[in-house]
Amino acid sequence: MVTLMMTNGCNLRCSHCWPESCSPESVQPVPTKTLQRMIRELASLEVEEICLTGGEPLTHPDWFNILNYACSQPGLKRVSLQTNGTLLDDTKIKVLHSMFFKGLQIQVSLDGASKRTHDRVRGQGSFESALQGLKRLSEAGLGKQTQVAFTEMQHNFAELPFLLELLDDLGISGCVSGTLVPQGRAKGANQIDSPTPSQYKKLLDLYQSDLEFRSRYKRLGNIAALEWLKGRSSESAQECVCIETPYINTEGQIYPCHFLPAPEFAVKGAHHRSLETVMMEAIALWAKLPEIDHRRRRELQPCKVCPGRLHCAGGCMGRAYAATGDFMSVEDRCVLRKSVYSWKNLPIFAGEG
Ligand SMILES: C[S@@+](CC[C@H](N)C(=O)[O-])C[C@H]1O[C@@H](n2cnc3c(N)ncnc32)[C@H](O)[C@@H]1O
Repeated sequence: MVTLMMTNGCNLRCSHCWPESCSPESVQPVPTKTLQRMIRELASLEVEEICLTGGEPLTHPDWFNILNYACSQPGLKRVSLQTNGTLLDDTKIKVLHSMFFKGLQIQVSLDGASKRTHDRVRGQGSFESALQGLKRLSEAGLGKQTQVAFTEMQHNFAELPFLLELLDDLGISGCVSGTLVPQGRAKGANQIDSPTPSQYKKLLDLYQSDLEFRSRYKRLGNIAALEWLKGRSSESAQECVCIETPYINTEGQIYPCHFLPAPEFAVKGAHHRSLETVMMEAIALWAKLPEIDHRRRRELQPCKVCPGRLHCAGGCMGRAYAATGDFMSVEDRCVLRKSVYSWKNLPIFAGEG
């Protein structure tokens, strides 16, 4: 999957925003022709999925032509649109409905199940507008192609079960949750914190005790705490080699992953050079990343005594770099992961298939 940033303009000003997006009037969106050329070339390079993001992609004045172009590329299995959902009025829904591409996936960000939590980071009125957007998507028959992205923070974490309930009622296909990354605006002293180990444990307890939540989670959920617990005795972390989800920003720099905007791994010129040339340069530069990642799992001291070392192996190298600037450090969720891996209750996932 390759992520393309269409613009760094956004109609919201979220206090956790890692690309630090600003008002659409103050930025230049990436030209349509540039985006279309990159999409065409990526499809011919046999990329499976393109993710269009921002900023807010729906503030790009030509978003429809860009999305439509991506959806009509032969070979692409999936096109995702990451949006805050607040601009999804009836006209835009009609446009999305007219795409007729089953591989179109709309990802709406919802950072809570109530305006109290969501609006705290995304601004007053944004929960209601995003909710309206989700309702319209569902009413237009696009609910199965829509999922919600939730950023786990201390103030909203307890609402995850209610969020799944809300999505169930709305007919939205699922929720992907990711823990706050200490990058961009989330790095400053803005009173937004990551969840605590006891919040994670409470969720595991709930999964254990509440059949309704468990069955809903199986249909709709993807929450780190529960997925770590499921995989705690396997080596699933080995699947990520840190270079399979490149990210192209609005300056035309390509990075190995959106979690890894490290200057030493940036290749410039994606907006005006052939992507085949750019990718060849990038692959040469990124070749050492899987090796560094393998060294991390062998050498990191805190991992040597951790019950989850097989599964976690130092966690995500991108997150580790984002939080500390050092590739050879454990990721910022180390304490959270340890609390999950050492959770003492019954192995609830056993026999669940
Ligand atoms: C950067 S936004 C851009 C797309 C669109 N404007 C939106 O709100 O979804 C893409 C996703 O990144 C998430 N995000 C932003 N800053 C983050 C951070 N510091 N940690 C984790 N996720 C973050 C957002 O919540 C959103 O789901």
